[in-house]
Amino acid sequence: MSADDALVEAARVAARDAYAPYSGFAVGAALRFADGRIITGGNVENVSYGLSLCAETVAAAKALAEGRRGGLLAVALAGPGDPLTPCGRCRQVLGELAALGGGDPLVLCCGAREVREYRLSELLPHAFGPDSLATGST
Ligand code: THU
Repeated sequence: MSADDALVEAARVAARDAYAPYSGFAVGAALRFADGRIITGGNVENVSYGLSLCAETVAAAKALAEGRRGGLLAVALAGPGDPLTPCGRCRQVLGELAALGGGDPLVLCCGAREVREYRLSELLPHAFGPDSLATGST
């Protein structure tokens, strides 16, 4: 099994622990770091729908809360149907983690059968990042 296969499998497993009683749409995300560690998350919904958290946001928050500040190499995202690409908010959230390491992670978007590969920079072109603050002064 390749490293990417293992990451995809970790995302699929994480989807099993998603808390998605309102949408019934369970998503799993898995983040692979340069030291080999994989951090996962599933979406966490709330009865006040707008408070729900996507799988990628949960995984990214776990990584940051564990003290990770870079080294994000790849992200796998698994949902129930066709290959799922990260929502706009999650692209920005992943971008924060990626910017800390200066890298451009691979994003593996997994459906039931097919896996599509992107770079985060393809999914979030012209990103607003830490450098944008430095150049935006008066
Ligand atoms: N969802 C994710 O977890 N990640 C995404 O990138 C897209 C959407 C979740 C949010 C919600 O709990 C469910 O999928 C349906 O939108």
